[in-house]
Amino acid sequence: MIALSDNDAKDGLNMKVIVDTPEGIAKQAAAIYQEILKDKPNAVLGFATGSTPLDLYAQLIKLYEAGEISFKDVTTFNLDEYVGLEPTHDQSYRYFMDTNLFTHIDLDPARVHIPSGIDTDAATLAAYDEAIAEAGGIDMQLLGIGCNGHIGFNEPGTPLESLTHVVELTQNTREVNARFFDSLDDVPTHAATMGIKTVMNARKLLLIALGESKAEAVYQTIKGPVSSACPASVLQLHPDAVVFLDEAAASKL
Ligand code: PGA
Repeated sequence: MIALSDNDAKDGLNMKVIVDTPEGIAKQAAAIYQEILKDKPNAVLGFATGSTPLDLYAQLIKLYEAGEISFKDVTTFNLDEYVGLEPTHDQSYRYFMDTNLFTHIDLDPARVHIPSGIDTDAATLAAYDEAIAEAGGIDMQLLGIGCNGHIGFNEPGTPLESLTHVVELTQNTREVNARFFDSLDDVPTHAATMGIKTVMNARKLLLIALGESKAEAVYQTIKGPVSSACPASVLQLHPDAVVFLDEAAASKL
């Protein structure tokens, strides 16, 4: 493990950047969940979908099965959902979370929140941020990062002040995600996503980036200017952001 110190890129920033193997990252990240839940068993956790968190979710399930972690009093909020996909659709993020984590641990389904991909009117979107506030705010939000620097589905250009909203997915994002669908045409064109401000309101952020395809976005996130051109660069402004990178994702730093 190479710790690049508490952000070696710029003075005065709080981002903690850790480079490790994907297996090591899953273990270290899972240990952070253990610590949080030890201090606060009813923590509010923000989860993410995509290929990146799969090893971490497998590790959390392993710890749960070994009796080393419990989610029994936890409340969860997911980052995003495709517009138009029913929760039962096998590419919906609800289905992803149920399959890859939620049904394997002792989480109360009544305390799971995922933006609706079906009801996307303004009141429903606003209610998502309100539900987060009512739950006491998110203690830790997990993030992946897009090759274009998106967090959640906040594509480049998204205002840094945004709350939960519907976005039009970029062609690049749809092409990258087409691997999960039969064809590019089947990839939804829009998604409901927590906004950048919603994410930044979380007390702790944990971003994981794996693979060479993320290297440029990671570079911009850590060493570039804070700019909506790379939404993840706002992490530089967060008081408690931890970034886990494998060697390939860290290769441009
Ligand atoms: P990935 O997606 O984990 O499948 O690479 C991350 C993202 O697009 O945020």
